[in-house]
Amino acid sequence: MRKDTSEFDVVVWGATGFTGRLVAEYLYERYGASGELRWAMGGRNESKLSAVRDEIGADGVPLLVGDAGDPASLDALAAQTRVVCTTVGPYAKYGSELVAACARQGTHYCDLAGEAQWIRRMIDAHEETAARSGARIVHCCGFDSIPSDLGVHFLQREAVARHGEPCEEVKLRVRAMKGGASGGTAASLMLVVEAAREDRRIARVLKNPYSLNPEGEREGPDRPDQQGAAYDEDVDAWTGPFVMAAINGKVVRRSNAVQGYPYGRDFRYSEAVITGPGLAGHAKALALTAGLGGLLVGAAFAPSRYLLNRFVLPSPGEGPSRQQRENGFFNLRLIGRYADGRRLRATVTADRDPGYGATSGMLAEAAVCLAQDVPRERVAGGFWTPASALGDPLIERLRARAGMGFEIAE
Ligand SMILES: NC(=O)c1ccc[n+]([C@@H]2O[C@H](COP(=O)([O-])OP(=O)(O)OC[C@H]3O[C@@H](n4cnc5c(N)ncnc54)[C@H](OP(=O)(O)O)[C@@H]3O)[C@@H](O)[C@H]2O)c1
Repeated sequence: MRKDTSEFDVVVWGATGFTGRLVAEYLYERYGASGELRWAMGGRNESKLSAVRDEIGADGVPLLVGDAGDPASLDALAAQTRVVCTTVGPYAKYGSELVAACARQGTHYCDLAGEAQWIRRMIDAHEETAARSGARIVHCCGFDSIPSDLGVHFLQREAVARHGEPCEEVKLRVRAMKGGASGGTAASLMLVVEAAREDRRIARVLKNPYSLNPEGEREGPDRPDQQGAAYDEDVDAWTGPFVMAAINGKVVRRSNAVQGYPYGRDFRYSEAVITGPGLAGHAKALALTAGLGGLLVGAAFAPSRYLLNRFVLPSPGEGPSRQQRENGFFNLRLIGRYADGRRLRATVTADRDPGYGATSGMLAEAAVCLAQDVPRERVAGGFWTPASALGDPLIERLRARAGMGFEIAE
C-alpha cells in the first residue's frame, strides 16, 4: 500500500490541451502556485508547457514531462503525486498506460472519459492491482457524468432524509444548456462510433445500460436509452434523446451497484432533453432525433467521417472561446418517484458552459477532493464513480467554488 508522502497533491496531465489548460487555469485562480495545494502541470512537450504556464500567469507551478506511450515516464510521474487528473484523450487512444501506471503506483486518478468500452476494459484489466496498491480510479469527472451522478446522489440523500426511503425511479431532464465542443471531444465521439461499428463486443458494451456494473450484476429493469421523441407527463412536455445519456446512465447504475444498492435493486434511471409543449415541442424532439442520428451515422463511415472532421467539427486544441464559455450554462431537472407515487424534484445548475467552463471546475475539484477530502479508510483502492468515491464532499466543493448548484425544487 502506497504511503502518502508524495511531492505533489495533484498533477494536471495534458495541461497543453484545450481542456487541460482550463483545468490548470482554474487551479491557479482558486489555489495559487504555492498555497495549501501542491500541484504541477504535466505534458509531453516542455516548451509548450512552459508557454501555457506563461500565458495563464501561473508562475512557480512546476512542470513535469512524459509521454502517454512511455510507461516508464508515466510510472515516474505517478510516483511523484497523490492524484493525477488527466485530459489527454481520446482516452481509448492515449489513456491506457496512465491508468495502468496509477494502479501500479497506488496513485489516485480522475479523468473526463466518456468512452464506456474503454472504461470497461480498464476496470477488467486493473481493478485487482488498484485494490492492492490503494489507487482510487474515478473516470467520468466532467459534464459526463458528474451532474447526473452527483445529482442522483443528492436527490436520493434528500429523499431518504425526508421520507426514510430512496426514490425507486429518477429521471433527469435537460431543461436548458448552452455551450460548444472541442477537438478532443469530437475525436472521442468519432472513435467510439467507429469502434462500435468494427467490433460487436464494443457495440454490446455501449448498448447494455448495466455494462459498467460488476460481473454478475449486469441486468436490471432499465432498457436502452430513449432514441426518439416521447411525451413526458412529469414535465408536461415533449422530450428527445440526450447524447450523454448512454454514458451517464451507466455511471449512475454503477454507483448504485458498487455501493451495495442504496437506491434499491429495482432502481430505474433515464435521461432526455425537454423540447417543449405542443406541436412545436414535438417537432423539435423529432429534429433532435434526426440530428443526433445523422451525426452518429456520419461518424460511422469513413467518407462522411472525413467530411465531419474536415468541415464541421473542431480540430485538436480548438474549442469554445472564453466569451462562449462564460455565456454558457446548464440547468438540469431531476424528478424522483417514490414507491407510493409521490415525487421529489431537484435541479443541478452551472453558471458556465457544460463541456469546458463547468467541466474544468468539476475535474479540478474532483482531483483536489480525492487528494484532500476522502481518506483511504473511507474509500479503498479500486475503480469507483464520482458519487461513490467523492459524493457529499464534492457537492460541497462544487457549490462553494465552481459555480454549481444542487437544490431541491419545492
Ligand atoms: N466529459 C466531458 O465532459 C469532457 C469535456 C471536455 C473534454 N473531454 C475529453 O477530454 C479529452 C481532451 O479533450 P481536448 O479537447 O482538451 O483535447 P486536446 O485539446 O486535443 O488536448 C489533448 C492533450 O493530449 C495531449 N497528448 C496527445 N498525445 C499525447 C502523448 N502521446 N503524450 C502526452 N500527451 C499527449 C496533447 O498534448 P500536445 O498539446 O503536446 O499536443 C494535449 O495536451 C478528450 O478525450 C475529450 O473527449 C471530456
